[in-house]
Amino acid sequence: MKKDFLGLENVSKEEIQELLDRAKFMKAQIKQGNKALDILKGKSIVTLFYENSTRTRCSFEDACMYLGASVCNVEVGTSSVQKGECLVDTAVTLDKMMTDAIIIRHSMAGAPAIIAQHTNASVINAGDGMHEHPTQALLDMFSMEERFGTLKGLTVSIIGDIKHSRVAKSNIIGLSKMGAKVKVYGPNTLMPWSFDGFDCTVCKSIDDAFIGSDVVMGLRIQLERQMRGLFPSNSEYTRFYGITSDRMAKANNGAVVMHPGPVNRGVEISYDVLDSDICIKDEQVTNGVATRMALLESVCI
Ligand code: CP
Repeated sequence: MKKDFLGLENVSKEEIQELLDRAKFMKAQIKQGNKALDILKGKSIVTLFYENSTRTRCSFEDACMYLGASVCNVEVGTSSVQKGECLVDTAVTLDKMMTDAIIIRHSMAGAPAIIAQHTNASVINAGDGMHEHPTQALLDMFSMEERFGTLKGLTVSIIGDIKHSRVAKSNIIGLSKMGAKVKVYGPNTLMPWSFDGFDCTVCKSIDDAFIGSDVVMGLRIQLERQMRGLFPSNSEYTRFYGITSDRMAKANNGAVVMHPGPVNRGVEISYDVLDSDICIKDEQVTNGVATRMALLESVCI
């Protein structure tokens, strides 16, 4: 693996498979209660989140601790960022503490790539603007492979705010590399102008998004977008784009519902589907720790 993990665009199919295979080992360790491995003993890792997070930040912190690394969380709100320190100076400061890896989330696309040019530490992208959220896609692919045995030949529909979603972009890139078929659907105002360079099919109707699908993935509706008039109301969104049990009946036998979280309950996914066995959002969270352990091992050793 390269020094940095900035997105799935420059990661090969073989490298993705290696990470998924290693994550299987990590998950087995966690399930056995073996959370005191010494694989990264002596390594120091920093989390630097300029945007809010529960899943990504906590699972990275758990992953560091389970592997035996020390982890320092920079609270951006009480850090020298508030005194005006710029992104690169903050990253270089952390790097000079002999940090082995910096895990960064930032609202600006490309922020991880910028700091990676100035640090000896490995840089891991934990979500950058509308660009990529590659570790979310890794855990999503791991969850699908665990459920279906393989990604090759799976049909995955992604429904919602495709235009602004870094989760959708990383999943389209990763899944298509691994041989899955990706379909996308959402309100016209939340679809990109073009899918040039992305291997996916745009559905013509909501039924298209369900028929023949093995996985239906909802995306969080970002309420700030509604304020800007990009969709009329939550209830209309649910009516036209919601993942409901009636619609899931049109998907393949054994199809599952996924969501990166956090979920707006009853908006992207109906309450009954969300709390049913076909929704694997909680498995995704568990798998987030295992996949991030595999990734940390690969960049730090
Ligand atoms: N899926 C995801 O990135 O969740 P958090 O914002 O809670 O990290």
